[in-house]
Amino acid sequence: MKIIVAGKGGAGKTTVSGTVARVLSQAGETVIAVDADVNPMLGISLGIGMEETERLAGAREALQAGEVEHQPDAEGIVTTFGTMAPDGVQLVVGSRMDGMDSGCLCCGVTPDRLLRELDGEGRVVIGDLEAGIGIVTRMDTGNIDLVLVVTNATSKSIEVARRAAASASSRGADVLVVANRIGADDDLEAIREALGEHDIVEVPEDDAIRHADEEGLAPLDGPRDTPGMVALLGLGERLAARAAA
Ligand SMILES: Nc1ncnc2c1ncn2[C@@H]1O[C@H](COP(=O)(O)OP(=O)(O)OP(=O)(O)O)[C@@H](O)[C@H]1O
Ligand SMILES: [Mg+2]
Repeated sequence: MKIIVAGKGGAGKTTVSGTVARVLSQAGETVIAVDADVNPMLGISLGIGMEETERLAGAREALQAGEVEHQPDAEGIVTTFGTMAPDGVQLVVGSRMDGMDSGCLCCGVTPDRLLRELDGEGRVVIGDLEAGIGIVTRMDTGNIDLVLVVTNATSKSIEVARRAAASASSRGADVLVVANRIGADDDLEAIREALGEHDIVEVPEDDAIRHADEEGLAPLDGPRDTPGMVALLGLGERLAARAAA
């Protein structure tokens, strides 16, 4: 199963990606998490910490130093430049290398290409996208099983989500909306009004999630019984059931 996570800047894409990736892995799935953001932060939400997240972002610099071999395919990129995150999630950063051999896949690879070429058969590949709808509109959705569109209740966030969902579903992709940081009843109403044709999962505003981020920790390594975490765990379990089906 292949999942991409899209939405406006700050909507909660990385929080959702990192948390559900670990829940899927705990449920017995083999999970590859692709950080497709030019400013990679998925490592933080997965729980490998800031230092290792930074190291991973520069992992392909070892090519420049001649310390590792160039990789001709997507699987090689994951095994050579990725790292193992908690619960056995394999994390890889999908950004392009500047100034390297442009004919080589591992140097020239874009996040969209890496996501396209990683096989989702028999495992879960989850891509935490950069903000906005750029990658969603460029991606070959035929190759994607599910687009998680994360939105907050602000009008701009909802508009980006609406465009992402429209682009993905007009090309046949399945869309699940994550209404994140919901505080008041009319928050969900506003999201339902624009995105009501899709399934919507509600994730409440949760201080524990915000605090984890402030500390550079994965939300899953904090309390799991808070409203936002209960909702994210439920989302992860729902995806696990779908992956196993
Ligand atoms: N349900 C929630 N309750 C409280 N805070 C949340 C919740 N979800 C996310 N946050 C906080 O919102 C902020 C943005 O979250 P996150 O980094 O996941 O967003 P993003 O969409 O990946 O952002 P970017 O576009 O910068 O990549 C973080 O501080 C995170 O802790
Ligand atoms: Mg992010």
